[in-house]
Amino acid sequence: MSRDRDTLISAEQNREMFDRIAKNYDAANHAISLGMDRSWRRKAICLLNPFDGGRYLDIGTGTGDLVFEILRLAPGAAVTGIDPAEQMLELAQNKAGEFPVSFVVGDAMNLPNENNTYDGIVSGFCFRNIEHRQKALVEMLRVLKPGGKLVILESTYPQNGLVRFGYRLFTPLVPIIGKMMGGGSAYKYLIASIEDFPAPDAVVEMVETAGFEDVRHRPLAFGAISIFSGRK
Ligand SMILES: C[S@@+](CC[C@H](N)C(=O)[O-])C[C@H]1O[C@@H](n2cnc3c(N)ncnc32)[C@H](O)[C@@H]1O
Repeated sequence: MSRDRDTLISAEQNREMFDRIAKNYDAANHAISLGMDRSWRRKAICLLNPFDGGRYLDIGTGTGDLVFEILRLAPGAAVTGIDPAEQMLELAQNKAGEFPVSFVVGDAMNLPNENNTYDGIVSGFCFRNIEHRQKALVEMLRVLKPGGKLVILESTYPQNGLVRFGYRLFTPLVPIIGKMMGGGSAYKYLIASIEDFPAPDAVVEMVETAGFEDVRHRPLAFGAISIFSGRK
């Protein structure tokens, strides 16, 4: 597999794709992850360690599951979910019911916040899709308060050869499941974008280059999922 292949699509193509698959996004997600996506989100939010009264931002919130996970641990936190895809946000808003959350249309590369606003930022399965990732990291650092924490949950290509073999047996099924659930070619892009996403060490380096400290990588699901964290 060539690391030179570039599956990155523009911010506008991203928005269109996620708006198109929004309706079945949650169901497809649970099916493709064999129901494990909930536990991965839970682990990411445990690491974020939100507290009542704190302010949190979920970047690429989609249908809002990480926002709800923050509120489960810290019901008194003020949480904002941001995403360019309005159809995804509409579903998030419907799921929110009485939860006091705000969902805002916006882009990771140009966050609509003052400097030093948030105690914590989380981003789940979004970072891989961002057109200019380094720019987004600099924005995340800017809006975090000093001492604030960043947690990025992402699908990664397993580094171990044996695991990679098993992974490659499973992944051809993903576009088929996705297509059956109305996702068209989006799930073909998903697999290609995971294979092309930088290796965990390179992601750690990107987060450090943006200016974060204490940057760590924690592999889950034998390296098919990664949690990256850092502090301002
Ligand atoms: C795979 S979904 C993940 C949704 C949710 N975080 C989750 O855990 O299920 C990726 C989301 O990132 C959003 N996204 C893509 N590019 C983005 C960007 N530049 N800034 C903010 N969000 C973006 C998409 O619109 C989409 O809703």
